[in-house]
Amino acid sequence: MSDIFLEARDITVRFGGLVAVDAVSATFRAGELVGIIGPNGAGKTTFFNAISGVIPPTSGQLIAGGRSLAGKPPHFYAAAGVARTFQTPRVFADMTVTANIDFGLKFAGRQREGSWHLRDATSILELIGLVHLAELPAAAITPSQQRVLEIGMALATRPRMLLLDEVAAGLTEIEVDNMAQLIRRMRDELDLTVVWIEHAVTTLLKYVERVIVLHQGRKIADGVPDEVVRNAEVVEAYLGDEMEQTA
Ligand SMILES: Nc1ncnc2c1ncn2[C@@H]1O[C@H](COP(=O)(O)OP(=O)(O)OP(=O)(O)O)[C@@H](O)[C@H]1O
Ligand SMILES: [Mg+2]
Repeated sequence: MSDIFLEARDITVRFGGLVAVDAVSATFRAGELVGIIGPNGAGKTTFFNAISGVIPPTSGQLIAGGRSLAGKPPHFYAAAGVARTFQTPRVFADMTVTANIDFGLKFAGRQREGSWHLRDATSILELIGLVHLAELPAAAITPSQQRVLEIGMALATRPRMLLLDEVAAGLTEIEVDNMAQLIRRMRDELDLTVVWIEHAVTTLLKYVERVIVLHQGRKIADGVPDEVVRNAEVVEAYLGDEMEQTA
């Protein structure tokens, strides 16, 4: 069993009276590819926000490399090697594809200095397959290419963990498969811990080693895909509908 990269213990996020994330605990091992699924409003994005420093959790602990992160400012998360994409892509539309990657490179952390080969925009664009678009403004590439670009910007920070929030939303079936293959390849080649939120459950379950299911803020399952798809509570809460739609 490999080392634990990040451990979330009883993470809770409240918005007024709403408990968006309800005492969720999860362990992410180094090099693991984990999916997070669940209905709209289940708390998936809020959980990401709480474990990537975008918002402080109301309560709970977050441990990375023996250090406590919960409640620390964003640069602590960057220093720990946590990078993420947003559900609505955040690229700089007026800047070229290369300049967007260069922006990420400015935030490159020190945590992977020796072993990391992605040191310039070109090597990153080659890996993510956008090198032919390098000089175009980001506004001129397709929405699916913008999602890939945002992944490139996250990679530029030299992360050890990549959190992907619905990077395949709105993509065609072929694009979803290409995205899944890119995610697998990044994990394999860059030795990343990847956590991937997606509603395209059928594809996601083919690629991840483990899947966490959130429902109404609570974690209702956490296991290998074969087990989770047979879990009665999961089928009831989510998979029944979702699998029928995508079958
Ligand atoms: N900033 C906020 N203020 C108040 N309520 C919020 C805020 N952000 C999220 N919520 C609420 O918290 C709950 C969880 O939302 P969240 O966006 O985490 O769900 P999700 O699982 O990512 O859903 P989706 O699949 O639609 O992206 C929802 O009820 C949402 O309305
Ligand atoms: Mg979301």
